[in-house]
Amino acid sequence: MKMTPALLIIGALMVFWASTFIIVGIPSMTMKETPSEIWRPLTAEEEAGHRLYVANGCSYCHSLFIRNSDWDIGAERIAQSGDYVGVEPAILGSERTGPDLSQEGGEHPDDWHLSHFKNPRYTSPVSLMPSWEFLGEKDIRQLTAYVQALGGKAADRRVERQKRWKAAAVAAYNSGPDRNVEWIHSQVPEVWRRMPNPYPATQAVLQRGKRIYQDFCINCHGPIGDGKGPAAKDVFPPPLNFTILRRHLVENRYIGGIFYYQIMNGITGTGMPYFKKHLESEKIWDLANYLGVYFVGYTDANIEPRGIDASYEEQWTNPYKPPALPPGASPPPSSPRPSP
Ligand code: HEC
Ligand code: HEC
Repeated sequence: MKMTPALLIIGALMVFWASTFIIVGIPSMTMKETPSEIWRPLTAEEEAGHRLYVANGCSYCHSLFIRNSDWDIGAERIAQSGDYVGVEPAILGSERTGPDLSQEGGEHPDDWHLSHFKNPRYTSPVSLMPSWEFLGEKDIRQLTAYVQALGGKAADRRVERQKRWKAAAVAAYNSGPDRNVEWIHSQVPEVWRRMPNPYPATQAVLQRGKRIYQDFCINCHGPIGDGKGPAAKDVFPPPLNFTILRRHLVENRYIGGIFYYQIMNGITGTGMPYFKKHLESEKIWDLANYLGVYFVGYTDANIEPRGIDASYEEQWTNPYKPPALPPGASPPPSSPRPSP
């Protein structure tokens, strides 16, 4: 067959229509409009936030759906078309320069979002997300309402939990700095309150702790740990002033385990985020040593009891915790290492 211009155009159109059918036609025919179990309609304010989300190109950096193939990257739920019934236009995005936001609702309290939208560097010092302060207070509130609704009814439960804890945290904060610290520490399980830092506060450890502090914490807790970083004006209760913790060590010599627990899990209802998905265990202990030595003026590293074993190997030399042997096994030959 001779390749004429007419044939070329017909061929090109056929390829175009075939790909449109595969990319647009099949998905829209198979898409269900039945709401999923977490779906709920957006309120007027959330709707306005959604329009801002679309208009400001948030989807160039964030996705709103987790597929089977990327379930491992964070969100707890595979997105379903039923989660987005009635959302118009539904621009779910496929870029993940920033995290997926499909279950963002209730991850943080509102004040964290307000601060983060004004300047993402306040709450996440290494963030490359642009500042949205130019949108103004009202738009930022609407964006916050929208991201708090992401996840539908499941998000509502998380938001509810944040609000409950926030009320408790604010009441504790208003009762004075010392009562506040007592309240915060009383939320930490007993075993963590009696656990010293298993790593000695060497120069290397403190250097690493300092670097991580500057990357994740400094804009809230401040360069000298007094809670007066630039984000402090937007989050309430304000970031904790570490320097007052010294007063709380009189009856409680331990601070490493408390720091570890709080940094790992965050403090629900307050701006204090959890870092368990960002920082490995040793980095959290390094931070705990850094906060202790530089801001509290004290480290409990390696006091007795020696807390968790920092390594498997140490179990063999730690006289307080002889390793359990499997049934029937004979004890190992005595350790060639000197006992500590
Ligand atoms: C240039 C890319 C980029 C753009 C555009 C962008 N973000 Fe982000 N976003 C990020 C990155 C990176 C992070 C992770 C670091 C951080 O927390 O700031 C993030 C984090 C977030 C978080 C916090 C997630 C969490 O729980 O830690 C929210 C909420 C968010 N973005 C919403 C938005 C909204 C709404 C818009 C549009 C108004 C937007 N982003 C535009 C890159 C971007
Ligand atoms: C968005 C602001 C923010 C960021 C970022 C932040 N914090 Fe906090 N932090 C807080 C707030 C708010 C509190 C609790 C204040 C209250 O309830 O009085 C807190 C409390 C704490 C506590 C509890 C202290 C205690 O004695 O129990 C520790 C420890 C802590 N932060 C460490 C860190 C570390 C380490 C980082 C960085 C990895 C960090 N925080 C990042 C805001 C922040």
